Amino acid sequence: MAPATPATASAITLTVNGEKHTLTVDHRTTLLDALRERLDLTGPKKGCDQGQCGACTVLVDGRRIVSCLELAVATEGRAVTTIEGVADGDALHPVQQAFLDLDGFQCGYCTPGQICSALAVLDEHAAGWPSAATPDVRPEAGPPPLTPEEIRERMSGNLCRCGAYVSIVQAVARAAEHRAGHPGHGAEATTESTTKESAA
Ligand code: FES
Ligand code: FES
Repeated sequence: MAPATPATASAITLTVNGEKHTLTVDHRTTLLDALRERLDLTGPKKGCDQGQCGACTVLVDGRRIVSCLELAVATEGRAVTTIEGVADGDALHPVQQAFLDLDGFQCGYCTPGQICSALAVLDEHAAGWPSAATPDVRPEAGPPPLTPEEIRERMSGNLCRCGAYVSIVQAVARAAEHRAGHPGHGAEATTESTTKESAA
């Protein structure tokens, strides 16, 4: 009797932007390709396809990942949020609004990934997670101020070929102020965000 042929595809069920989907995918299919090619969610972009640029960033169970490095089958039963699921109907999320108001983009190719990353940055910071730029990582020190240096470090996995980094840092700073209940003008970031390269 011939040996059984190993299965090369599986049916998976995942929730994307609050909607449940069941689809059969080749085991080699990345989450990015499943989103773009199977579910027509083209917000997440394919920049490098090797985990280097962050253009494909989405949230899985609230944590940011580069979807080009995640196999679709690994997201079975999980909740995925793409840029298409960030706004509340016609009302932009404060992070989206800040990017719009402060020109946090030029061509926009990296923007869906930047915004998904920024959403996670705000959550990670609120949860007290340190970054490589945090001077005091002791838990009792509490969350570090979300300075431009912190923002640049925490957003450093998201590249922007247009070099919109100065405005991106300002937009994240403004969204953080909004979240803290102190809507401001992102001025804290304005004076210190002087080089585009520093966020790359
Ligand atoms: S396309 Fe995924 S990190 Fe570049
Ligand atoms: S706005 Fe063009 S790549 Fe970032």
